[in-house]
Amino acid sequence: MNPFEGRIALVTGAASGIGAALAAALHAGGAKVVLADINGDGASRQATAIGAGAGAAVQLDVTNRAQFAAAADATVKRHGRIDYLFNNAGIAIIGNTLAMTGADWDRLLDVNVRGVVHGVEAVYPLMVEQAPLSGWRGHIVNTASISGLVPAPGFTAYAMTKHAVVGLSVSLREEARRYGVRVSAICPSVIGTPMADHAQLLGDSVPVREKVDGFVRLPDADYCARKALAGVRRNKALIPVAPAAHIGWRLYRLWPGLLRPVTRRLADELAPMQAPGETSVEAPTGRRDNDDAR
Ligand SMILES: NC(=O)c1ccc[n+]([C@@H]2O[C@H](COP(=O)([O-])OP(=O)(O)OC[C@H]3O[C@@H](n4cnc5c(N)ncnc54)[C@H](O)[C@@H]3O)[C@@H](O)[C@H]2O)c1
Repeated sequence: MNPFEGRIALVTGAASGIGAALAAALHAGGAKVVLADINGDGASRQATAIGAGAGAAVQLDVTNRAQFAAAADATVKRHGRIDYLFNNAGIAIIGNTLAMTGADWDRLLDVNVRGVVHGVEAVYPLMVEQAPLSGWRGHIVNTASISGLVPAPGFTAYAMTKHAVVGLSVSLREEARRYGVRVSAICPSVIGTPMADHAQLLGDSVPVREKVDGFVRLPDADYCARKALAGVRRNKALIPVAPAAHIGWRLYRLWPGLLRPVTRRLADELAPMQAPGETSVEAPTGRRDNDDAR
């Protein structure tokens, strides 16, 4: 039997990209899916497109704690329970950290970290209270990123938020085990979604995808959803998605120094020495001070 058959899943960020693909795959697997997104019209369109019906969509800004609680309550009222919460909504702001504004830091923290926290606050207690099915009560699946597991210069602030999501996930997983609630984090490398297609460096108008070699052929969102759900089925704690994520994570754990040429190239391409609007800064010559940090 398909493990998602008859299960109830709430997916945030479901109007686009990975969230839309997760919703489609879950629906195809027989789950009843609630598609939540700040873009309510987009969520309705996606719900209709996958055959769940526009009624399966809900407009939800994950930065709003009360809205998230209301969406969770409405899902339980309608379907009786929530078996899966996919905390997937997220945004990316990338480029040289010197170019980040206070508003950029706040927005990333609000959506990528508080948005996940609000989901946990709204749904985890409901899962703990509900009756177990097949030996477990619920599964919280947070979309982090490979940049939540390894250094990602040029993605520094984004990587901070995704490290937070990984930390929350692996810690809550151990705590929630006693209640029969599962917790996993999905950690994809770059996936060909609107986020990746339109991402620009701070202060630059050309999409990064047009600038960086090797960035052009990317795995798509359906592939990401398929791999992610395979990991969810096996109740894996961390679910790296795509070869670059598996390799990067393994290398960083076993031989972190071997990843350094990649992180230096990322730093040079995505966070150039001259930040937008700044005067040029000279690179120090000789051995780089942080070479021995790991
Ligand atoms: N695309 C990638 O390369 C990649 C890689 C690793 C991780 N991720 C993560 O995957 C998740 C999905 O990203 P994607 O690539 O599908 O991006 P996407 O831009 O295609 O989709 C993100 C969705 O989240 C929604 N959203 C944004 N802010 C929201 C809010 N405040 N409340 C509710 N919904 C909101 C958007 O409307 C959009 O529908 C994100 O958490 C992202 O950080 C993406």
